[in-house]
Amino acid sequence: MIHTRGSCVAHCWDSRLASVHWDGTLPGSSFEESCRLAWSWSRAPGTLSGRARGRLGEGVVQYLIIGAGMDSFAFRRPDLLQRIEVFETDHPNEQRKKLRRVRRAGLTVAERHHFVCADLCSDSIVDALAASGLDSTKPTFVSLLGVAYYLTPESLAATARSIAGTLPAGTRMAVDYLLDEASSDPRSRSVRESLVGLVERCGEPMRSSYSLDKMTALMSSSGFEPLETFAVADLNDVYREELGSLLFEIPGIFGMGTFRVVQQSA
Ligand SMILES: C[S@@+](CC[C@H](N)C(=O)[O-])C[C@H]1O[C@@H](n2cnc3c(N)ncnc32)[C@H](O)[C@@H]1O
Repeated sequence: MIHTRGSCVAHCWDSRLASVHWDGTLPGSSFEESCRLAWSWSRAPGTLSGRARGRLGEGVVQYLIIGAGMDSFAFRRPDLLQRIEVFETDHPNEQRKKLRRVRRAGLTVAERHHFVCADLCSDSIVDALAASGLDSTKPTFVSLLGVAYYLTPESLAATARSIAGTLPAGTRMAVDYLLDEASSDPRSRSVRESLVGLVERCGEPMRSSYSLDKMTALMSSSGFEPLETFAVADLNDVYREELGSLLFEIPGIFGMGTFRVVQQSA
């Protein structure tokens, strides 16, 4: 269902939504393997997004994906959409692009799959969701993956406060972000510079970076308590153990955390 607001009528990648055609079955070259591995770090069972899905089996009935981009969860899991509602929010321009691709690919939008546009630099996420059918009393998991990079700390805090002020105590939110220079692995300095330069040239500059402690402080002052925070590069060892060896080391420039809405004092 597409909820319109104002003048505005978002991986687990899906090749039907991606801008570059990649069917995920090309013969392994180190580049393709690298892409797959890089992508899997935030998606595999055992990591945050994987755990998010795990929690969908633990009484969560709403999945709120903020800055959904081309996330295709709702199209790939019609089984889960039998019992959960998925709410995707995104910047109006990106959501328009996604909806065009959805139509072009002939995908069916399920009744329980909602699209809401919200520019997090100027809109309150909760106001934007007001008419979408999101029920603030129901158990919800919130994903804010791949998005904090593009928000100022003020916009991120406003978004977090808005969620913490509306959804019940205990609601969990997964966030990933760019580590600040001091917290990044010095061996990954050139990767960090290249990434920041690349997205800037693509017209979507990164606007913030944090240490693990700074992110915890921002989230704590916005109504959340940390459940786990870690540098994503720490997953290299997990994957090395699983796979034997790695073609691609996750650079030490990303942080991740899951946070829980705390009980508001009366
Ligand atoms: C790198 S994509 C991440 C997409 C998806 N969450 C994922 O993990 O694959 C960044 C997303 O953040 C969204 N975004 C960036 N700035 C935004 C803003 N001011 N308001 C809303 N969404 C924004 C973009 O539109 C895009 O969908």
